[in-house]
Amino acid sequence: MKILITGANGQLGRSLLRTLTAHDLVPLARANLDITDADACARALDEHRPQAVIHCAALTDTNRCEQDPALARAVNGIGTEHVARACARTGARLVAISTNEVFDGAQSTPYVENARPNPLNAYALSKLDGEVLAAARHADTLIVRASWLYGDGYVNFNEKVLAAAAEGRPLRFVTDEIATPTATDDLARAIATLLEHGAPPGIYHLSNGGEASRHDWAVEILHLAGRSDTPVESITTADLRATGYTGPQKPPYSVLANTRAAALGITLRDWRDALKEYFDYRETGNGAQAPPPV
Ligand SMILES: NC(=O)c1ccc[n+]([C@@H]2O[C@H](COP(=O)([O-])OP(=O)(O)OC[C@H]3O[C@@H](n4cnc5c(N)ncnc54)[C@H](OP(=O)(O)O)[C@@H]3O)[C@@H](O)[C@H]2O)c1
Repeated sequence: MKILITGANGQLGRSLLRTLTAHDLVPLARANLDITDADACARALDEHRPQAVIHCAALTDTNRCEQDPALARAVNGIGTEHVARACARTGARLVAISTNEVFDGAQSTPYVENARPNPLNAYALSKLDGEVLAAARHADTLIVRASWLYGDGYVNFNEKVLAAAAEGRPLRFVTDEIATPTATDDLARAIATLLEHGAPPGIYHLSNGGEASRHDWAVEILHLAGRSDTPVESITTADLRATGYTGPQKPPYSVLANTRAAALGITLRDWRDALKEYFDYRETGNGAQAPPPV
């Protein structure tokens, strides 16, 4: 299948390049395709005529989105609309990547695909805009909601925790923000399977199995990196805010139930198993290396 990838230089984009080797990939980083440019999106689809587009380009810095919601909407909302319109013109299937953060976290059980979104921050609102606009502009759209991504060869949460530990900085993570850490390679394979199986349009949740708080994740990272002796303080979001933290509001619970993918026989392993593999590769240096920037 000929598959065009937007945001190909990001975490998920690089994983798609690494794992979808059976397909004819057209990786476009921001320098080659800025999704805020509607004409550029149309030209890219006209030129390459892919059968599918995996749309990874996004403004993912949640603090920046909070400070500049208009920019968040321009990239994550309207930019996604541009990609969807270009796909509709050329008949390419669209896989638009979205987020667990579209939910408000009031539930205490995993969110199924048709649960009602209610974004709490500007990033999540702009991503939900993107979902709605994509589906409105192009009927053959698969919205894939992912959760807490980390990818090989990237400055992800795993590496940030380890860097802080190495520098002896105090480690303190919340226990009341719960979702599922997900390996971008696992997500990339699941997305490929959706396309290969000709999955019907609609919303799909794709995260690794199980659930964890930020604190659980950090503790597991240190364990797998052989640094279990590093103290990790647990804190609640309210206590964190009392210390002056002013970051965007996050859903306390945004675990995804991969119901529709499971019905197609697509399951993802438990997050701890995926994280262990990340560290196995990291320790031995034998893991697939991130491809050079495109
Ligand atoms: N990271 C997570 O934990 C997480 C969780 C759930 C869902 N998601 C979603 O998963 C998708 C992939 O995330 P990721 O972690 O791979 O993000 P990422 O590493 O931040 O990659 C996003 C890429 O999009 C590019 N980009 C930004 N603005 C653009 C524009 N106007 N035109 C074209 N490209 C642009 C960025 O380029 P620059 O670096 O040059 O800005 C970056 O390479 C996104 O839709 C994200 O919202 C992420």
